[in-house]
Amino acid sequence: AVIILLGPPGAGKGTQARMLQDAHGLVQLSTGDLLRAAVKAGTEAGRAAKAVMEAGGLVSDDIVLAILRERMAASDVSRGIILDGFPRTAGQAESLDGLLEAEGNTIAAAIAMEVDDGAMVERISGRYTCAACGEGYHDRFKVPAVEGVCDKCGGTEFSRRPDDKAETVRGRLEAYHAQTEPLIAYYEAKGVLSRVDAMARIDEVAEAMNTIVRRAI
Ligand code: AP5
Ligand code: ZN
Repeated sequence: AVIILLGPPGAGKGTQARMLQDAHGLVQLSTGDLLRAAVKAGTEAGRAAKAVMEAGGLVSDDIVLAILRERMAASDVSRGIILDGFPRTAGQAESLDGLLEAEGNTIAAAIAMEVDDGAMVERISGRYTCAACGEGYHDRFKVPAVEGVCDKCGGTEFSRRPDDKAETVRGRLEAYHAQTEPLIAYYEAKGVLSRVDAMARIDEVAEAMNTIVRRAI
């Protein structure tokens, strides 16, 4: 089974995908994380993606699909996959349909995480991540229990993303509205869409998502 998370930058896709992974034994696949890893490793795909990501645009479907296919083949996805940040264009959605059909797999749910644009800038500019395990935090909304120490792994190094600057965030929001938001109607037409109020507290959003996923898988 495949669960798709749709939502603008900062909606909380990564936060919720990690919680669903822990709660349901699903494998989280984030194309953003995979692309950042490729940039860091300096692979050919990473070199092509770097400038586009820093400018807040969308990386080409070819690169994203190649990276995703590679990771799917290398992961144990038998208990289900949670796609975070993919698909993001009509072309990617169609490619995903083809990929799943070939495997006899299906989309169990697409969850649209609804938020207003204004809140996004605040969320994204306060965000930071554990350098060791990737757990996400926020200066105000999600602080570690012990200041400066990761709750998950005890790590003490944290990093911020180069594309989390206000001017880049605006570009990312534009890309979302122009290219990704239309996918909500695409999955609604397939009868797999659910909507979640992602302006609520993290634990409240998690509860709503859990209910949807429990029913779907
Ligand atoms: P990607 O990494 O996917 O970034 P994004 O979609 O912009 O989403 P974010 O990671 O910024 O936000 P999120 O929704 O995961 O929120 P989070 O949980 O961190 O993509 C980055 C780039 O890669 C793209 O711009 C593009 O260039 C490229 N790319 C990736 N996939 C692609 C694809 N398929 N095709 C083409 N290009 C692609 O939460 C944000 C913050 O808010 C955190 O600090 C968190 O603690 C906090 N928070 C979360 N939930 C709440 C809440 N309910 N209340 C208060 N605070 C909250
Ligand atoms: Zn950590």
